[in-house]
Amino acid sequence: MPLLAVTYVKGRPGATTSALGLAATAPSDVTPVVLECDPAGGDLMRRHGLAAVPSLVDLAAIARGSTAVRDIFTSTSQPAVQTLTVGDTVVPVVAAPAGGAQTRAALPELTNAGRPVLAPADRLVVADCGRLTPGSPVWPVLRLADVVLVLVRARADELAHLRELLCELLDAGTGRLVMLLAHGGVYPAADVAEVLSAHVVEELAGDARAVTVLGPLPTDRRGAAVLDGELLAGRRWRRLPLLRGYTRLWSDLGPLLPGLRAVQPVTSSEVPR
Ligand SMILES: Nc1ncnc2c1ncn2[C@@H]1O[C@H](COP(=O)(O)OP(=O)(O)OP(=O)(O)O)[C@@H](O)[C@H]1O
Ligand SMILES: [Mg+2]
Repeated sequence: MPLLAVTYVKGRPGATTSALGLAATAPSDVTPVVLECDPAGGDLMRRHGLAAVPSLVDLAAIARGSTAVRDIFTSTSQPAVQTLTVGDTVVPVVAAPAGGAQTRAALPELTNAGRPVLAPADRLVVADCGRLTPGSPVWPVLRLADVVLVLVRARADELAHLRELLCELLDAGTGRLVMLLAHGGVYPAADVAEVLSAHVVEELAGDARAVTVLGPLPTDRRGAAVLDGELLAGRRWRRLPLLRGYTRLWSDLGPLLPGLRAVQPVTSSEVPR
């Protein structure tokens, strides 16, 4: 199954929220797992009251100890996976301690083991890679990913920071690069796509189709609070604007993720209201 990496370059556009939101709304025939690998440390333990163990540290120990790893998320006697619930949906997660030091130590162990660990056969791994900086230890995860989803607000300042890293992002891997417009932007997706494509062609001598722009996600305090663990999800949690946004997004992401059965385009009548 594919590896979907979620990252951002500026601000706090909602990478952790989106990793969890996408896992919670994943197509029903997919078993997702959220992998917290933000080098600044994880948030899900505190937000969702998860235990301190098992964690990413245990996952790295399993990866280190196994010579023939098939699926380290399920095939070991000491699982690293915990679960949290969003409404009626159970979401498997590998949570990371706050602080980041343990994540930074664990990351090379996981990425050295390569795709057998991070893209196991029967799981969709949604990796929250946190904020991307030039020397971040998370770049190897992006190199292994099938899709790198970069959250960005459609504002001049945030787009300028993104442009500075675009060359490295394009060089990083063979996966698809998708810019997901976060809440709170001012420019429409078509304008952002035009500006980024022009930059890729004129400044980087690249292919205009190398970058896909999706979104924007809506501003939705309630939906974000449900995913933050601040608000208990009601029976109709899937109808919250942000959750509907993630459900819709799967129609565009599905075809970009190899091994995922093509997700039928979600028509407006099918999106939960
Ligand atoms: N679409 C949205 N509408 C309103 N608030 C949002 C939305 N998405 C995220 N938020 C809020 O923004 C804040 C930051 O979100 P999140 O933790 O996902 O950011 P991040 O990009 O992972 O940054 P960091 O890892 O630095 O915290 C949270 O309080 C979250 O509830
Ligand atoms: Mg985060």
